[in-house]
Amino acid sequence: MPAVRVLPCTLALFGALGDLALRKLYPALYQLDREGLLHDDTRIIALARQQGEDAKQLAHIEERLRHYVPSADWDQAVWERFSARLSYRAMDFRREEDYQGLAEDVSDAETLIAYFATPASVYSAICENLHSVGLSDRTRVVMEKPIGHDLESSRVVNDSVARFFPESQVYRIDHYLGKETVQNLIALRFANSLFETQWNQNYISHVEITVAEKVGIEGRWGYFDQAGQLRDMVQNHLLQLLCLTAMDPPADLSADSIRDEKVKVLKALEPITADQLASRVVLGQYTSGYSDGKPVPGYLEEENSNETSRTETFVAIRADIRNWRWSGVPFYLRTGKRMPQKLSQIVIHFKEPPHYIFAPEQRSLINNRLIIRIQPDEGISLQVMTKDQGLSKGMQLRSGPLQLNFSEAFKSARVPDAYERLLLEVMQGNQSLFVRKDEIEAAWRWCDQLLEGWSKMGDTPKSYAAGTWGPLTSIALIARDGRSWYGDI
Ligand code: BG6
Repeated sequence: MPAVRVLPCTLALFGALGDLALRKLYPALYQLDREGLLHDDTRIIALARQQGEDAKQLAHIEERLRHYVPSADWDQAVWERFSARLSYRAMDFRREEDYQGLAEDVSDAETLIAYFATPASVYSAICENLHSVGLSDRTRVVMEKPIGHDLESSRVVNDSVARFFPESQVYRIDHYLGKETVQNLIALRFANSLFETQWNQNYISHVEITVAEKVGIEGRWGYFDQAGQLRDMVQNHLLQLLCLTAMDPPADLSADSIRDEKVKVLKALEPITADQLASRVVLGQYTSGYSDGKPVPGYLEEENSNETSRTETFVAIRADIRNWRWSGVPFYLRTGKRMPQKLSQIVIHFKEPPHYIFAPEQRSLINNRLIIRIQPDEGISLQVMTKDQGLSKGMQLRSGPLQLNFSEAFKSARVPDAYERLLLEVMQGNQSLFVRKDEIEAAWRWCDQLLEGWSKMGDTPKSYAAGTWGPLTSIALIARDGRSWYGDI
Protein backbone atom coordinates (compact mmCIF):
# COMPACT_ATOMS: atom_id res chain seq x y z
CA MET A 1 0.00 0.00 0.00
CA PRO A 2 1.25 3.53 -0.59
CA ALA A 3 2.47 5.54 2.39
CA VAL A 4 -0.27 6.60 4.75
CA ARG A 5 -1.58 10.15 4.68
CA VAL A 6 -2.71 11.18 8.14
CA LEU A 7 -5.88 13.21 7.85
CA PRO A 8 -7.91 14.89 10.59
CA CYS A 9 -11.43 13.78 11.43
CA THR A 10 -13.94 13.56 14.24
CA LEU A 11 -15.05 10.06 15.09
CA ALA A 12 -18.49 9.70 16.65
CA LEU A 13 -18.66 6.24 18.14
CA PHE A 14 -22.26 5.04 18.57
CA GLY A 15 -22.50 2.16 21.03
CA ALA A 16 -19.36 3.42 22.73
CA LEU A 17 -19.67 1.33 25.89
CA GLY A 18 -20.49 -1.93 24.13
CA ASP A 19 -18.27 -4.97 23.87
CA LEU A 20 -17.01 -4.27 20.33
CA ALA A 21 -16.00 -0.72 21.15
CA LEU A 22 -14.26 -1.66 24.37
CA ARG A 23 -12.59 -4.82 23.10
CA LYS A 24 -11.61 -3.71 19.60
CA LEU A 25 -12.19 -0.07 18.69
CA TYR A 26 -10.48 1.88 21.51
CA PRO A 27 -7.46 -0.44 21.47
CA ALA A 28 -7.23 0.00 17.68
CA LEU A 29 -7.48 3.78 17.97
CA TYR A 30 -4.92 3.82 20.77
CA GLN A 31 -2.50 1.81 18.61
CA LEU A 32 -3.03 4.21 15.70
CA ASP A 33 -2.21 7.08 18.02
CA ARG A 34 0.88 5.25 19.28
CA GLU A 35 2.04 4.74 15.70
CA GLY A 36 1.57 8.44 14.96
CA LEU A 37 -1.34 7.75 12.60
CA LEU A 38 -3.93 10.00 14.22
CA HIS A 39 -3.83 13.61 13.16
CA ASP A 40 -3.30 16.13 16.00
CA ASP A 41 -6.79 17.49 15.38
CA THR A 42 -8.56 14.13 15.40
CA ARG A 43 -11.16 13.78 18.14
CA ILE A 44 -13.20 10.83 19.39
CA ILE A 45 -16.68 11.32 20.80
CA ALA A 46 -17.98 8.27 22.66
CA LEU A 47 -21.78 8.09 22.42
CA ALA A 48 -23.94 5.75 24.49
CA ARG A 49 -27.23 5.67 26.38
CA GLN A 50 -25.70 5.53 29.85
CA GLN A 51 -26.39 8.72 31.81
CA GLY A 52 -24.38 9.83 34.82
CA GLU A 53 -21.07 11.54 35.12
CA ASP A 54 -19.05 11.54 31.91
CA ALA A 55 -15.91 11.05 33.97
CA LYS A 56 -17.24 7.73 35.21
CA GLN A 57 -17.83 6.42 31.68
CA LEU A 58 -14.42 7.65 30.56
CA ALA A 59 -12.80 5.91 33.53
CA HIS A 60 -14.50 2.70 32.48
CA ILE A 61 -13.17 3.09 28.93
CA GLU A 62 -9.67 3.69 30.31
CA GLU A 63 -9.87 0.66 32.58
CA ARG A 64 -10.93 -1.60 29.67
CA LEU A 65 -8.33 -0.09 27.36
CA ARG A 66 -5.57 -0.87 29.86
CA HIS A 67 -6.95 -4.38 30.05
CA TYR A 68 -6.98 -5.00 26.29
CA VAL A 69 -3.80 -3.21 25.20
CA PRO A 70 -0.75 -5.48 25.76
CA SER A 71 1.27 -4.07 28.68
CA ALA A 72 4.37 -3.81 26.45
CA ASP A 73 2.43 -1.39 24.22
CA TRP A 74 1.15 0.80 27.04
CA ASP A 75 2.72 4.21 27.01
CA GLN A 76 1.53 6.80 29.49
CA ALA A 77 2.39 9.70 27.18
CA VAL A 78 0.31 8.15 24.39
CA TRP A 79 -2.56 7.58 26.78
CA GLU A 80 -2.48 11.24 27.84
CA ARG A 81 -2.57 12.37 24.24
CA PHE A 82 -5.30 9.84 23.45
CA SER A 83 -7.46 10.74 26.45
CA ALA A 84 -7.26 14.43 25.51
CA ARG A 85 -8.97 13.51 22.23
CA LEU A 86 -11.69 11.52 23.93
CA SER A 87 -15.01 12.83 25.28
CA TYR A 88 -18.27 11.18 26.29
CA ARG A 89 -21.83 12.20 25.51
CA ALA A 90 -24.93 10.37 26.76
CA MET A 91 -27.69 10.25 24.18
CA ASP A 92 -30.73 8.34 23.02
CA PHE A 93 -29.91 7.39 19.42
CA ARG A 94 -33.57 7.51 18.43
CA ARG A 95 -34.22 11.08 19.69
CA GLU A 96 -33.52 13.84 17.22
CA GLU A 97 -33.14 16.48 19.99
CA ASP A 98 -30.15 14.58 21.36
CA TYR A 99 -28.27 15.18 18.10
CA GLN A 100 -28.28 18.98 18.46
CA GLY A 101 -25.49 18.80 21.02
CA LEU A 102 -23.51 16.47 18.81
CA ALA A 103 -23.95 18.83 15.85
CA GLU A 104 -22.59 21.72 17.96
CA ASP A 105 -19.67 19.57 19.13
CA VAL A 106 -18.63 18.80 15.58
CA SER A 107 -19.49 22.11 13.97
CA ASP A 108 -15.89 22.75 12.93
CA ALA A 109 -15.09 19.17 11.87
CA GLU A 110 -14.50 18.74 8.16
CA THR A 111 -14.99 15.00 8.18
CA LEU A 112 -17.24 13.22 10.61
CA ILE A 113 -16.96 9.46 10.89
CA ALA A 114 -20.10 7.95 12.40
CA TYR A 115 -19.22 4.44 13.54
CA PHE A 116 -22.28 2.29 14.27
CA ALA A 117 -21.24 -0.28 16.87
CA THR A 118 -24.90 -0.83 17.65
CA PRO A 119 -27.57 -3.31 16.56
CA ALA A 120 -28.59 -2.75 12.93
CA SER A 121 -32.13 -1.94 14.12
CA VAL A 122 -30.99 1.58 15.07
CA TYR A 123 -28.91 2.36 11.96
CA SER A 124 -31.86 3.92 10.22
CA ALA A 125 -32.72 6.21 13.15
CA ILE A 126 -29.11 7.33 13.51
CA CYS A 127 -28.87 8.12 9.79
CA GLU A 128 -32.11 10.06 9.80
CA ASN A 129 -31.12 12.08 12.86
CA LEU A 130 -27.63 12.85 11.55
CA HIS A 131 -29.31 14.11 8.41
CA SER A 132 -31.89 16.19 10.30
CA VAL A 133 -29.20 18.11 12.16
CA GLY A 134 -27.38 18.80 8.90
CA LEU A 135 -24.44 16.44 9.34
CA SER A 136 -24.99 14.02 6.49
CA ASP A 137 -22.95 15.80 3.81
CA ARG A 138 -19.64 15.43 5.52
CA THR A 139 -20.23 12.11 7.27
CA ARG A 140 -18.78 8.69 6.47
CA VAL A 141 -20.97 6.00 7.93
CA VAL A 142 -19.30 2.83 9.20
CA MET A 143 -21.59 -0.15 9.74
CA GLU A 144 -20.87 -3.36 11.58
CA LYS A 145 -22.28 -6.70 10.64
CA PRO A 146 -24.76 -8.34 10.81
CA ILE A 147 -26.55 -6.28 8.20
CA GLY A 148 -29.82 -8.17 8.14
CA HIS A 149 -30.36 -11.90 8.52
CA ASP A 150 -31.28 -12.55 4.87
CA LEU A 151 -31.42 -10.75 1.54
CA GLU A 152 -34.68 -9.03 2.24
CA SER A 153 -33.81 -7.73 5.70
CA SER A 154 -30.36 -6.62 4.54
CA ARG A 155 -32.04 -4.60 1.79
CA VAL A 156 -34.26 -2.94 4.36
CA VAL A 157 -31.22 -1.84 6.37
CA ASN A 158 -29.20 -0.77 3.33
CA ASP A 159 -32.11 1.09 1.77
CA SER A 160 -32.87 2.96 4.97
CA VAL A 161 -29.23 4.11 5.15
CA ALA A 162 -29.24 4.96 1.42
CA ARG A 163 -32.09 7.43 1.95
CA PHE A 164 -29.58 9.75 3.65
CA PHE A 165 -26.13 8.55 2.56
CA PRO A 166 -24.92 7.67 -0.94
CA GLU A 167 -22.89 4.48 -1.31
CA SER A 168 -19.69 6.55 -1.58
CA GLN A 169 -20.13 7.54 2.07
CA VAL A 170 -20.93 4.05 3.40
CA TYR A 171 -18.28 1.69 4.83
CA ARG A 172 -19.57 -1.81 5.66
CA ILE A 173 -17.15 -3.69 7.86
CA ASP A 174 -16.06 -7.25 7.37
CA HIS A 175 -13.13 -7.31 9.73
CA TYR A 176 -11.50 -10.20 7.84
CA LEU A 177 -10.71 -7.73 5.06
CA GLY A 178 -8.59 -5.75 7.52
CA LYS A 179 -6.39 -8.71 8.43
CA GLU A 180 -2.82 -8.32 7.16
CA THR A 181 -2.64 -11.76 5.55
CA VAL A 182 -5.96 -11.30 3.82
CA GLN A 183 -4.62 -8.13 2.20
CA ASN A 184 -1.49 -10.06 1.41
CA LEU A 185 -3.59 -12.32 -0.76
CA ILE A 186 -3.91 -9.43 -3.18
CA ALA A 187 -0.15 -8.86 -3.15
CA LEU A 188 0.59 -12.56 -3.45
CA ARG A 189 -1.74 -13.07 -6.37
CA PHE A 190 -1.23 -9.92 -8.37
CA ALA A 191 2.39 -8.99 -7.65
CA ASN A 192 3.72 -12.45 -8.56
CA SER A 193 3.30 -13.65 -12.11
CA LEU A 194 4.49 -17.05 -10.85
CA PHE A 195 1.16 -17.76 -9.20
CA GLU A 196 -1.26 -15.91 -11.39
CA THR A 197 -0.37 -17.91 -14.48
CA GLN A 198 -1.25 -21.12 -12.62
CA TRP A 199 -4.34 -19.78 -10.90
CA ASN A 200 -7.07 -21.60 -12.77
CA GLN A 201 -8.68 -24.94 -13.51
CA ASN A 202 -5.78 -26.06 -15.72
CA TYR A 203 -3.46 -26.26 -12.73
CA ILE A 204 -5.53 -26.22 -9.55
CA SER A 205 -7.51 -29.27 -8.48
CA HIS A 206 -9.34 -27.82 -5.49
CA VAL A 207 -9.24 -25.14 -2.82
CA GLU A 208 -9.93 -25.39 0.91
CA ILE A 209 -10.88 -22.47 3.10
CA THR A 210 -10.99 -23.21 6.81
CA VAL A 211 -11.87 -20.75 9.55
CA ALA A 212 -11.82 -22.76 12.75
CA GLU A 213 -12.42 -21.24 16.16
CA LYS A 214 -11.48 -22.75 19.47
CA VAL A 215 -13.95 -20.65 21.43
CA GLY A 216 -17.57 -21.58 21.98
CA ILE A 217 -20.35 -19.05 22.29
CA GLU A 218 -18.76 -16.89 25.01
CA GLY A 219 -21.92 -15.47 26.57
CA ARG A 220 -23.45 -14.54 23.17
CA TRP A 221 -25.95 -17.39 23.01
CA GLY A 222 -29.00 -15.17 22.46
CA TYR A 223 -27.48 -13.40 19.46
CA PHE A 224 -25.75 -16.42 18.04
CA ASP A 225 -28.76 -18.71 18.24
CA GLN A 226 -30.72 -16.36 15.97
CA ALA A 227 -27.87 -16.30 13.48
CA GLY A 228 -25.95 -19.58 13.38
CA GLN A 229 -22.54 -20.16 11.84
CA LEU A 230 -23.73 -19.81 8.25
CA ARG A 231 -25.00 -16.27 8.75
CA ASP A 232 -22.35 -15.34 11.32
CA MET A 233 -19.28 -16.54 9.40
CA VAL A 234 -19.97 -17.96 5.92
CA GLN A 235 -22.13 -15.16 4.50
CA ASN A 236 -19.37 -12.66 5.22
CA HIS A 237 -15.88 -13.82 6.21
CA LEU A 238 -15.66 -17.09 4.28
CA LEU A 239 -17.26 -15.72 1.13
CA GLN A 240 -14.93 -12.72 1.23
CA LEU A 241 -11.93 -15.06 1.45
CA LEU A 242 -13.38 -17.07 -1.42
CA CYS A 243 -13.81 -13.92 -3.50
CA LEU A 244 -10.26 -12.71 -2.93
CA THR A 245 -8.94 -16.15 -3.81
CA ALA A 246 -11.07 -16.61 -6.91
CA MET A 247 -11.50 -13.15 -8.41
CA ASP A 248 -9.94 -12.02 -11.66
CA PRO A 249 -7.14 -9.45 -11.52
CA PRO A 250 -8.68 -6.00 -11.04
CA ALA A 251 -7.67 -3.23 -13.44
CA ASP A 252 -6.24 -1.25 -10.52
CA LEU A 253 -6.38 -1.08 -6.74
CA SER A 254 -9.34 1.25 -6.57
CA ALA A 255 -12.24 0.26 -4.36
CA ASP A 256 -14.66 -0.27 -7.21
CA SER A 257 -12.25 -2.23 -9.40
CA ILE A 258 -11.66 -4.71 -6.58
CA ARG A 259 -15.29 -4.87 -5.57
CA ASP A 260 -16.50 -5.32 -9.16
CA GLU A 261 -14.32 -8.43 -9.46
CA LYS A 262 -15.52 -9.82 -6.12
CA VAL A 263 -19.17 -9.40 -7.08
CA LYS A 264 -18.57 -11.34 -10.29
CA VAL A 265 -17.38 -14.31 -8.23
CA LEU A 266 -20.39 -14.16 -5.92
CA LYS A 267 -22.71 -14.05 -8.88
CA ALA A 268 -20.97 -17.05 -10.43
CA LEU A 269 -21.40 -19.21 -7.32
CA GLU A 270 -23.50 -22.18 -8.30
CA PRO A 271 -26.72 -22.44 -6.31
CA ILE A 272 -26.90 -25.69 -4.36
CA THR A 273 -30.16 -27.37 -5.24
CA ALA A 274 -32.34 -29.29 -2.80
CA ASP A 275 -31.22 -32.66 -4.13
CA GLN A 276 -27.50 -31.68 -3.82
CA LEU A 277 -27.83 -30.33 -0.31
CA ALA A 278 -27.26 -33.59 1.54
CA SER A 279 -24.01 -34.30 -0.31
CA ARG A 280 -22.66 -30.72 -0.49
CA VAL A 281 -23.55 -29.13 2.84
CA VAL A 282 -23.00 -30.31 6.39
CA LEU A 283 -24.30 -28.41 9.37
CA GLY A 284 -23.16 -29.41 12.83
CA GLN A 285 -23.68 -28.52 16.47
CA TYR A 286 -21.12 -29.18 19.20
CA THR A 287 -21.82 -31.36 22.18
CA SER A 288 -19.75 -31.37 25.37
CA GLY A 289 -16.11 -32.29 24.98
CA TYR A 290 -12.65 -30.99 25.75
CA SER A 291 -10.82 -27.81 24.90
CA ASP A 292 -7.12 -27.69 25.83
CA GLY A 293 -7.71 -30.78 27.95
CA LYS A 294 -10.45 -29.16 30.03
CA PRO A 295 -14.10 -30.28 29.89
CA VAL A 296 -16.41 -27.79 28.16
CA PRO A 297 -20.21 -27.81 27.83
CA GLY A 298 -22.12 -28.54 24.63
CA TYR A 299 -23.95 -25.80 22.72
CA LEU A 300 -27.26 -26.77 24.32
CA GLU A 301 -25.75 -26.58 27.81
CA GLU A 302 -24.17 -23.12 27.44
CA GLU A 303 -25.34 -20.23 29.63
CA ASN A 304 -28.84 -18.97 28.62
CA SER A 305 -29.29 -21.79 26.12
CA ASN A 306 -32.52 -23.33 24.99
CA GLU A 307 -32.32 -27.08 24.91
CA THR A 308 -34.25 -27.53 21.71
CA SER A 309 -32.19 -25.24 19.47
CA ARG A 310 -31.29 -26.58 16.03
CA THR A 311 -28.87 -23.75 15.27
CA GLU A 312 -25.64 -24.82 13.59
CA THR A 313 -22.24 -24.05 15.11
CA PHE A 314 -20.38 -25.72 12.24
CA VAL A 315 -20.73 -25.56 8.47
CA ALA A 316 -18.91 -27.37 5.67
CA ILE A 317 -19.84 -26.68 2.07
CA ARG A 318 -18.62 -27.76 -1.32
CA ALA A 319 -19.03 -24.61 -3.41
CA ASP A 320 -18.54 -24.42 -7.17
CA ILE A 321 -17.90 -21.35 -9.28
CA ARG A 322 -19.44 -21.36 -12.71
CA ASN A 323 -16.92 -19.51 -14.81
CA TRP A 324 -14.09 -20.05 -17.27
CA ARG A 325 -11.35 -19.91 -14.65
CA TRP A 326 -12.85 -22.22 -12.04
CA SER A 327 -15.09 -24.68 -13.81
CA GLY A 328 -14.63 -28.11 -12.19
CA VAL A 329 -12.59 -26.81 -9.23
CA PRO A 330 -14.46 -27.32 -5.95
CA PHE A 331 -13.98 -24.81 -3.13
CA TYR A 332 -14.43 -26.60 0.18
CA LEU A 333 -15.44 -24.17 2.91
CA ARG A 334 -15.39 -25.12 6.57
CA THR A 335 -15.95 -23.14 9.74
CA GLY A 336 -16.95 -24.03 13.26
CA LYS A 337 -16.91 -23.10 16.91
CA ARG A 338 -15.19 -25.26 19.53
CA MET A 339 -12.75 -26.84 17.16
CA PRO A 340 -9.35 -28.12 18.33
CA GLN A 341 -7.49 -24.89 17.52
CA LYS A 342 -7.96 -21.38 16.17
CA LEU A 343 -6.91 -21.59 12.56
CA SER A 344 -7.80 -19.64 9.44
CA GLN A 345 -6.13 -20.79 6.27
CA ILE A 346 -6.57 -21.16 2.56
CA VAL A 347 -5.03 -24.19 0.91
CA ILE A 348 -4.62 -24.23 -2.85
CA HIS A 349 -4.08 -27.78 -4.11
CA PHE A 350 -2.36 -27.99 -7.49
CA LYS A 351 -2.99 -30.80 -9.94
CA GLU A 352 -0.56 -33.65 -10.46
CA PRO A 353 1.98 -33.26 -13.28
CA PRO A 354 0.46 -34.54 -16.52
CA HIS A 355 2.92 -37.43 -16.91
CA TYR A 356 4.27 -39.35 -13.92
CA ILE A 357 7.78 -40.87 -14.10
CA PHE A 358 8.66 -41.76 -10.50
CA ALA A 359 8.15 -44.92 -8.45
CA PRO A 360 4.44 -45.85 -8.31
CA GLU A 361 4.39 -46.08 -4.50
CA GLN A 362 5.42 -42.42 -4.22
CA ARG A 363 2.64 -41.17 -6.38
CA SER A 364 0.42 -40.05 -3.50
CA LEU A 365 3.20 -37.70 -2.35
CA ILE A 366 3.00 -35.66 -5.52
CA ASN A 367 0.90 -32.69 -4.75
CA ASN A 368 2.02 -29.09 -4.70
CA ARG A 369 0.09 -27.00 -2.24
CA LEU A 370 0.13 -23.35 -1.42
CA ILE A 371 -0.94 -22.71 2.15
CA ILE A 372 -1.91 -19.19 3.06
CA ARG A 373 -2.04 -18.95 6.81
CA ILE A 374 -4.29 -16.06 7.90
CA GLN A 375 -4.05 -16.68 11.63
CA PRO A 376 -2.24 -17.53 13.82
CA ASP A 377 1.43 -17.73 12.62
CA GLU A 378 0.62 -15.59 9.60
CA GLY A 379 2.55 -16.67 6.55
CA ILE A 380 2.75 -18.52 3.29
CA SER A 381 4.08 -21.97 2.64
CA LEU A 382 4.52 -23.61 -0.73
CA GLN A 383 4.87 -27.38 -0.56
CA VAL A 384 7.25 -28.56 -3.26
CA MET A 385 8.71 -31.92 -4.24
CA THR A 386 12.45 -32.53 -4.06
CA LYS A 387 14.71 -35.54 -4.09
CA ASP A 388 15.89 -36.94 -0.78
CA GLN A 389 19.62 -36.30 -0.13
CA GLY A 390 22.12 -39.13 -0.13
CA LEU A 391 23.66 -41.79 -2.32
CA SER A 392 21.48 -44.55 -0.89
CA LYS A 393 18.24 -42.72 -1.53
CA GLY A 394 18.05 -43.12 -5.31
CA MET A 395 15.25 -40.98 -6.71
CA GLN A 396 13.34 -41.01 -3.44
CA LEU A 397 10.92 -38.04 -3.44
CA ARG A 398 10.17 -35.84 -0.52
CA SER A 399 7.68 -33.06 0.02
CA GLY A 400 9.01 -29.98 1.81
CA PRO A 401 7.88 -26.40 2.41
CA LEU A 402 9.23 -23.17 0.98
CA GLN A 403 8.20 -21.00 3.83
CA LEU A 404 7.62 -17.32 4.52
CA ASN A 405 6.63 -16.66 8.08
CA PHE A 406 5.57 -13.03 8.38
CA SER A 407 6.50 -12.53 12.03
CA GLU A 408 10.02 -13.82 11.34
CA ALA A 409 10.34 -11.96 8.04
CA PHE A 410 9.21 -8.63 9.47
CA LYS A 411 10.76 -8.95 12.90
CA SER A 412 10.39 -5.36 13.91
CA ALA A 413 6.76 -5.06 12.91
CA ARG A 414 3.79 -5.84 15.15
CA VAL A 415 0.91 -7.51 13.32
CA PRO A 416 -1.75 -4.81 13.50
CA ASP A 417 -5.27 -5.77 14.42
CA ALA A 418 -7.78 -5.73 11.55
CA TYR A 419 -9.66 -2.82 13.13
CA GLU A 420 -6.57 -0.62 13.10
CA ARG A 421 -6.28 -1.04 9.36
CA LEU A 422 -10.00 -0.55 8.78
CA LEU A 423 -10.26 2.60 10.91
CA LEU A 424 -7.25 4.03 9.14
CA GLU A 425 -8.79 3.31 5.74
CA VAL A 426 -12.05 5.05 6.72
CA MET A 427 -10.06 8.07 7.88
CA GLN A 428 -8.36 8.12 4.49
CA GLY A 429 -11.65 7.72 2.66
CA ASN A 430 -10.61 4.47 0.97
CA GLN A 431 -13.46 1.99 0.53
CA SER A 432 -11.47 -0.93 -0.95
CA LEU A 433 -11.54 -2.95 2.26
CA PHE A 434 -15.28 -2.44 2.81
CA VAL A 435 -18.16 -4.38 1.39
CA ARG A 436 -20.36 -2.77 -1.23
CA LYS A 437 -24.14 -3.12 -1.14
CA ASP A 438 -24.32 -5.41 -4.17
CA GLU A 439 -21.67 -7.70 -2.66
CA ILE A 440 -23.67 -8.13 0.53
CA GLU A 441 -26.78 -8.82 -1.49
CA ALA A 442 -25.13 -11.37 -3.77
CA ALA A 443 -23.68 -13.14 -0.72
CA TRP A 444 -27.10 -13.23 0.96
CA ARG A 445 -28.76 -14.52 -2.19
CA TRP A 446 -26.45 -17.53 -2.25
CA CYS A 447 -26.77 -18.19 1.49
CA ASP A 448 -30.53 -17.74 1.48
CA GLN A 449 -31.03 -20.59 -0.96
CA LEU A 450 -28.92 -22.85 1.28
CA LEU A 451 -30.86 -21.84 4.37
CA GLU A 452 -34.20 -22.29 2.65
CA GLY A 453 -33.24 -25.71 1.31
CA TRP A 454 -32.00 -26.70 4.71
CA SER A 455 -35.14 -25.62 6.49
CA LYS A 456 -37.30 -27.50 3.94
CA MET A 457 -35.22 -30.61 4.46
CA GLY A 458 -36.14 -30.39 8.15
CA ASP A 459 -32.89 -32.05 9.19
CA THR A 460 -31.12 -31.37 12.48
CA PRO A 461 -27.44 -30.43 12.59
CA LYS A 462 -25.08 -33.39 13.05
CA SER A 463 -23.36 -33.45 16.41
CA TYR A 464 -19.66 -33.25 16.97
CA ALA A 465 -17.80 -33.28 20.26
CA ALA A 466 -16.24 -29.97 21.32
CA GLY A 467 -12.53 -30.09 20.54
CA THR A 468 -12.90 -32.06 17.30
CA TRP A 469 -12.87 -31.01 13.62
CA GLY A 470 -16.63 -31.27 13.18
CA PRO A 471 -19.12 -34.01 12.33
CA LEU A 472 -17.87 -37.13 10.55
CA THR A 473 -20.12 -36.25 7.64
CA SER A 474 -17.86 -33.25 6.93
CA ILE A 475 -15.01 -35.71 6.33
CA ALA A 476 -17.34 -37.66 4.05
CA LEU A 477 -18.22 -34.46 2.16
CA ILE A 478 -14.65 -34.07 0.90
CA ALA A 479 -13.83 -37.81 0.89
CA ARG A 480 -16.66 -38.33 -1.61
CA ASP A 481 -14.44 -36.48 -4.11
CA GLY A 482 -11.42 -38.61 -3.13
CA ARG A 483 -9.87 -35.88 -0.94
CA SER A 484 -9.30 -35.03 2.71
CA TRP A 485 -9.11 -31.81 4.73
CA TYR A 486 -5.53 -30.62 4.82
CA GLY A 487 -3.66 -30.98 8.10
CA ASP A 488 -6.41 -32.33 10.36
CA ILE A 489 -4.94 -34.34 13.20
C1 BG6 B 1 -17.18 -12.41 14.13
C2 BG6 B 1 -18.23 -13.42 14.50
O1 BG6 B 1 -17.57 -11.71 12.97
O2 BG6 B 1 -15.95 -13.08 13.87
C3 BG6 B 1 -17.77 -14.24 15.71
O3 BG6 B 1 -19.44 -12.76 14.80
C4 BG6 B 1 -16.41 -14.84 15.46
O4 BG6 B 1 -18.71 -15.26 16.02
C5 BG6 B 1 -15.43 -13.78 14.98
O5 BG6 B 1 -15.97 -15.42 16.68
C6 BG6 B 1 -14.11 -14.41 14.56
O6 BG6 B 1 -13.17 -13.39 14.28
P1 BG6 B 1 -11.61 -13.64 14.43
O7 BG6 B 1 -10.99 -12.37 13.97
O8 BG6 B 1 -11.36 -13.94 15.88
O9 BG6 B 1 -11.28 -14.81 13.57
